[in-house]
Amino acid sequence: MQDRRRFMQQLSALGLGAIATGRIAPRWRTMADPFTLGIASGDPWPDGFVLWTRLAPDPLNGGGMGTDDVAVRWEVAADDQMRRIVRSGTTVAPAEFAHAVHVTLRGLAPDRWYWYRFHVGDATSAVGRTRTMPLAGTMPNRMRLVVASCQHYEAGFYAAHAHLAREDADLCAFLGDYIYESHFARPVRSHEAGEPTTLDAYRNRYARYKTDPQLQDAHAAMPWVVTWDDHEVDNNYAGLVSEREDPEAAFRLRRAAAYRAYYEHMPLRRTSIPAGPDMLLYRSLAFGRLARLHVLDGRQYRSDQSCGDRPKPPCEAWDREDRTMLGTTQERWLGQGLVRPGATWQVLAQQVMLMPLDLDAGPGERYNMDSWSGYPAARRRLTSLVAERRVPNVVTLTGDVHANYAGEVPLDARRPEDTKVAVEYVGTSISSEGDGMDAFPQVQAVRGSTPWLKFHNARRGYIRCDVTAAGWRSDYRIVPSIQSAAAPVTTVASFVTPAGRSVIEPA
Ligand SMILES: [Fe+2]
Repeated sequence: MQDRRRFMQQLSALGLGAIATGRIAPRWRTMADPFTLGIASGDPWPDGFVLWTRLAPDPLNGGGMGTDDVAVRWEVAADDQMRRIVRSGTTVAPAEFAHAVHVTLRGLAPDRWYWYRFHVGDATSAVGRTRTMPLAGTMPNRMRLVVASCQHYEAGFYAAHAHLAREDADLCAFLGDYIYESHFARPVRSHEAGEPTTLDAYRNRYARYKTDPQLQDAHAAMPWVVTWDDHEVDNNYAGLVSEREDPEAAFRLRRAAAYRAYYEHMPLRRTSIPAGPDMLLYRSLAFGRLARLHVLDGRQYRSDQSCGDRPKPPCEAWDREDRTMLGTTQERWLGQGLVRPGATWQVLAQQVMLMPLDLDAGPGERYNMDSWSGYPAARRRLTSLVAERRVPNVVTLTGDVHANYAGEVPLDARRPEDTKVAVEYVGTSISSEGDGMDAFPQVQAVRGSTPWLKFHNARRGYIRCDVTAAGWRSDYRIVPSIQSAAAPVTTVASFVTPAGRSVIEPA
């Protein structure tokens, strides 16, 4: 109790849970546009979804909304002209959540598109498009997903977002690194200097990213299903261990600030409201009987990387049974979700690469210790569960590595050419690492010894997935350069996974 009180005092010192008046401002008005950060929707279910915006007439300096709460009106329509309004209401944009709005809608019709917007004072937001999920128990004809991750603002423009917004997809799965806490060495455009550690600084960083018009278009086009990776807090952090191994108490406060800002800026359900440094982000969503999405949190509960974070040969602690990627509770939850019948495709929407990728071209071994290859016991528990319980059609969608990969996930990483239990489609970055290249030389060097890896490409872009009961198709969409916001998009490769077989074949 004492600890908790002290912790709350430290949070208020950081500006967390700070000095909101709790009053609703009468007739709030501004000359400046309060919708500078755009709008968003997310986490749809069969009769609703979450609608999001944040009022910020002065986005890069704390928002500029003052300390009173503000009433915001929202409308949901059956048409894009907002003529046939089906639901409307007023909600409060609380000062203590930086005037972010999270509206939870219920009671809408399943499996259909809706349009929405917000009003505050004299101002009206843009119109966004979103959808409800098909009813549980029904088999939809098709689901189209776009898969994106890693959008370092300084590394370039979001041309890829402009294209994925026009793919007519049902959902965007965003797999982490929505912001970067760190600076990019060869910036195409700049955000504020210095790594954020306080709530105010994280809020301003999200605001910088969210002012991008192409990112706003991508949010307005469809509901997003988001998870985070490391850069939403700190590069390669693991649980309560920061990149530079700061004292745990200090990192706890930093993580609390970062998680709070993440919740404030994402279209998440209220179940994700953080409590200090803890936030429930893993969850599942169903697209009728066609697909169940297990959205994973591979950061908050993981054991520290065993041999340092960089690609390395395995060290002593690497293969210890007690090392975890998901934590005990999430691991059990995932196991229960995977064995539950009622979905053709079991989709893992997650952060880091699951398939083994030995980067040593010679007789030794060298793994990215931040990926599942750095957590072999945790990976073994997952792949054995899938094999033993005969979970069919497991598809892993992955971000993190700023390159495209497609591969088959073996049951046993030590005998990777034997039984495969899943397929993995790894999506490249929207912008992180700059323009990229056709292939990383260090990956090309091990292609011969990694036959389960079917594809690699290191340009920027996203994956477009078309899913039916018969098969899963992934189109790798790339842009040639991100020096310009207007770069075109092409498909560099397409693959299919027929239902019932853990294989990746050219489409
Ligand atoms: Fe990244």
